Amino acid sequence: MKQFGYFDDANREYVITNPATPWPWINYLGTEDFFSLISNTAGGYCFCKDAKFRRILRYRYNGVPMDAGGRYYYIKDGDTVWNPGWKPCKTPLDFYECRHGMGYTRVTGEKDGVKADVLFFVPIGHRCEVHRVRLTNQGKTPKSVQLYSFAEWCLWNASTDMENFQRNLSTGEVEIEGSVIYHKTEYRERRDHYAFFGANRPMDGFDTDRKTFLGMYNGFEAPQQVLAGTSGNSRAHGWSPIASHRFDLTLAPGATEEIIFVLGYVENKPEEKFSAPGVINKAKALHMMQAFATPAQVNAAFDQLKSYWDGLLGRFTVESDVPELDRTVNIWNQYQCMITFFFSRSASYFESGIGRGMGFRDSNQDLTGIVHMIPERARQRIIDIASTQFPDGGCYHQYQPLTKRGNNDIGGGFNDDPLWLIFGTVAYIRETGDFGILKEPVPFDNKPGTEVSLLEHLKISFKHVTDNLGPHGLPLIGRADWNDCLNLNCFSDNPDESFQTTENKTEGSKAESLMIAGLFVAEGKDFAELLERIGDSDAVDVKKAVAAMEEAVKKDGWDGEWFLRAYDYYGRKIGSDECPEGKVFIESQGWCTMARIGADEGLCDKALDSAVKYLECEYGLVLNNPAYSKFIKDYGEISSYPEGYKENAGIFCHNNPWVIIGEAMAGRAQDAWRHYQKITPAFCKDQSLRKVEPYVFCQMVAGKDAARPGEGKNSWLTGTAAWTWKAVSEALLGIKPQFDGLLIEPCIPIGTYHIRRRFRDAEYDLTIHYTGKKGGQFIPYRPGRQVLEIEL
Ligand code: BGC
Ligand code: NOJ
Repeated sequence: MKQFGYFDDANREYVITNPATPWPWINYLGTEDFFSLISNTAGGYCFCKDAKFRRILRYRYNGVPMDAGGRYYYIKDGDTVWNPGWKPCKTPLDFYECRHGMGYTRVTGEKDGVKADVLFFVPIGHRCEVHRVRLTNQGKTPKSVQLYSFAEWCLWNASTDMENFQRNLSTGEVEIEGSVIYHKTEYRERRDHYAFFGANRPMDGFDTDRKTFLGMYNGFEAPQQVLAGTSGNSRAHGWSPIASHRFDLTLAPGATEEIIFVLGYVENKPEEKFSAPGVINKAKALHMMQAFATPAQVNAAFDQLKSYWDGLLGRFTVESDVPELDRTVNIWNQYQCMITFFFSRSASYFESGIGRGMGFRDSNQDLTGIVHMIPERARQRIIDIASTQFPDGGCYHQYQPLTKRGNNDIGGGFNDDPLWLIFGTVAYIRETGDFGILKEPVPFDNKPGTEVSLLEHLKISFKHVTDNLGPHGLPLIGRADWNDCLNLNCFSDNPDESFQTTENKTEGSKAESLMIAGLFVAEGKDFAELLERIGDSDAVDVKKAVAAMEEAVKKDGWDGEWFLRAYDYYGRKIGSDECPEGKVFIESQGWCTMARIGADEGLCDKALDSAVKYLECEYGLVLNNPAYSKFIKDYGEISSYPEGYKENAGIFCHNNPWVIIGEAMAGRAQDAWRHYQKITPAFCKDQSLRKVEPYVFCQMVAGKDAARPGEGKNSWLTGTAAWTWKAVSEALLGIKPQFDGLLIEPCIPIGTYHIRRRFRDAEYDLTIHYTGKKGGQFIPYRPGRQVLEIEL
């Protein structure tokens, strides 16, 4: 089995040792509003705030080979031209290594005695990427080499950049001053932002026009200027503006040259846009260049970034005898939760950054992965999300990060959406004890003057479900529930229609969801507890509604061995033994067992057994089974996928933790732990088969019915990050935040382990011996350090 790298836990890095990974293995840079995607060969792009509207570097979708374009450094040494990250020249290297760390990526290549070490990071408090390029002559004789930088500008809107060529090919504008190349397309009109790429020493040549640099018929792998050792000193007028610097360097034996590049983004006030007619005001760019002019400044900024991540990740650590568990919990899962929080589902190597904004349900779920690290930002996110809600509790499915407005392209009507606001807010208050957030005035649909308290938003979210019940007293599914692809009111014949935004029949629909029913009961219990805690008498009605829902599920949502999945438009069962295919679904098993519906009657244990029996395979639990073998118009997108992929019997990792938590709540430690290990990448043995990054969870792993079971896809931006975090930290390791303290209630067959947990102003240092007993121990919140040994 081929390995492409290894974990370096001490440095919190994943080290890639072979650049030809089965798929680009990427990392993310940035912590505030300037973000970058960077692959192990330095491909990728960056943007400020919005991956669609403020795209800085161009990225080629559907290109071959994929992942072409990025921030490339070319080294010309005699007749040899190479890149530290191997691509795009793919000149064989004597040594290659890519270290993806927390908010930085470091690529090192060596060729013929020259070593190039390039560190990429986005410094805290600045809107830029810093690239520190170090060239070292490891040989015994002096070396003369040329170093070229290269980046290609996107004309800001990543969507029109790929379409509107009749305009785009005439709008490109640049300025060049000193060693800084400025990209100012559309700055003359309504844009008040520009980008720049500069270096901290005088350059020996440059190019800003792509054709001059590459040549009309060459690709990135053979730029004609680099091959010739020249620069065209070209000024782009329209066509395709780029930025390339050239440095002619002589390196004595053993000597190192260090050049610092800054790729930045600047916004100016409208009245301060120009320093002279047509000339951009460069003050902010120069200021940024000056902030990273010396190696000492770069080191300080890099140290600051490291402390930032040390601070965040230090808030929860585990030490056990299982290294895969420790590295997942202490490093990569928390890191992925942060990235997912920043990006929602917008930009990855599976999400274009053009199509999707911040998901209402996605962003609420993401909160549970980060609230212990960045509670203030979680608070803001809750307010932002709630502000897009409608007065009847319904929601836009997504909102645009730049404007924070609901995005009508996707519309609404996903009937699980409102409940996730309760889910996110409860998680926030349990972690922080900040009940004050409930009093925050929050508008509807961002309309000033419509504000009601956040608590009111939660109440109408809850009511949105009880206002929309179907014939069995179960929640109407609407356009879809969590499973966007179960489109029961869609009935589309037209391949040009989106399954998710088309509702051809809604009137009279009997389509009900057992997943929403389970979610409603689980979240309703939490909501009632919250209301009681703040002395709100509505708790009584909430509990009644929850009890009624539990009865409805037991009466019409139980199929004999497992929970049904749904009723369709006509009121026919989905996810039942009666169905020829799609007999068992995971979502309702997860949610109804987390809600403990019918636990006393044994329903939860039976449902969990059925999940094991019908859904479990070598790589995890598949979403449904048997897979749908043909398209069923009444069900929509779910059956559009070939068997074993995505929502049609893929291992949709996001929902595996629901079963894991359900198992833990039922006290079934072995099952919970086995399910967890199967989806956690650190336990994965075959990197070639898995294909995607071995350090992050992916949305989907091909299921047992697929052509290649075990193949991973859609890595990074997935609710799996937050949900596995919740599963491992709360259900398995048993550290459960409550409104007034921590409940320690593990369910994991690994014996003794040690936890350090920062909780509000308290620091808990816990040694836990888990012997398999049921029940937990409550530790009331009290600031300060507490060292405890707990046997359970
Ligand atoms: C995918 C889902 C995704 C949805 C939203 C669907 O095609 O299968 O996983 O949530 O699109 O864009
Ligand atoms: C991905 C979406 O982002 C999420 O909202 C949805 O629940 C899952 N796909 C399942 O369809």
